[in-house]
Amino acid sequence: MKILAFAKVNFILEILGPRPDGYHELVTVFQNVGLADEIEFEPAERGISLEINSGKGLEVKGNLILRAARKLQKHTGDDKQGVSIRLTKKIPVGAGLGGGSADAAATLVALNRLWQRGLSDEDLQQIGSEIGSDVAFFIRGGAALGEGRGERLTPLGEGPVGHAVIVRPPFSISTADAFKAYRRRSDWGPPRDPARMVEAVGKKNLNLVGGELFNRFENVLYGEYPVLAAIRHTLAAAGCCGAVLSGSGSCAYGLVEKKEEAEAIARKLNLRECEVFAVPLVSEGVRFQDVTPTLNRTT
Ligand code: C5P
Repeated sequence: MKILAFAKVNFILEILGPRPDGYHELVTVFQNVGLADEIEFEPAERGISLEINSGKGLEVKGNLILRAARKLQKHTGDDKQGVSIRLTKKIPVGAGLGGGSADAAATLVALNRLWQRGLSDEDLQQIGSEIGSDVAFFIRGGAALGEGRGERLTPLGEGPVGHAVIVRPPFSISTADAFKAYRRRSDWGPPRDPARMVEAVGKKNLNLVGGELFNRFENVLYGEYPVLAAIRHTLAAAGCCGAVLSGSGSCAYGLVEKKEEAEAIARKLNLRECEVFAVPLVSEGVRFQDVTPTLNRTT
């Protein structure tokens, strides 16, 4: 069984303040994009194994895929079936694109099917939210408003049709560190209301969405990483209808309507040491690649 786990960007991300549990209350709009990790699942007699092909020496220990698989076993009180998992990592890590959460969600969806656990999307979202704040979003994906830690979801449909030019600078940013930096200041002013963005996404109007892009982490991080402001500016100047930081960074992205425009902008951006991806907005978090039952496969 082979699955694509799609990355996300945040159309808006406002932090409303710290919570007693150490997390922060958020309001965000998630949107999936067509940059995906590939994950293969083969039934095994017993046990859960993971192999990672990333070219970057990512550690297997502590990977959210393993946590997701074990949580699913625990939740259903059944660890008799095993699985061997192979991850081909394409989504940059520490980049604000939700790659680890996407992988965890894809694992829950895949193993629910492979092990025939019969859990609903809502069950999987509940398990996912115990793994990470935005795992629940990826179970269904598309476009959604996220509140609470980001796990309380209101679906916003498929989202607009368009493309994102995503720029990854040559460094990662840890989400926990970004939130710590937010807490070092308190003069943030009135919070951004998500209503106009929600309306723009509902209307599937890319230009309106582009005009409403917002991310509170820009105020938090631009002082320490001025290159992020430069990237956002370059994307806007290159013809994107809006550009903004994704999640807690380090990626910024711009929006355009057409694939050709996205690819032309990606080609002509001249940002040293940055990786650039031109990808469509997509209306799903997880996509099954092959429908042939794994056991009957001849190749
Ligand atoms: O939930 P997740 O494990 O993805 O979050 C990573 C870290 O980011 C948390 O340990 C916490 O420090 C911070 N975080 C937060 N408030 C949120 C989401 C994440 O403070 N809503």
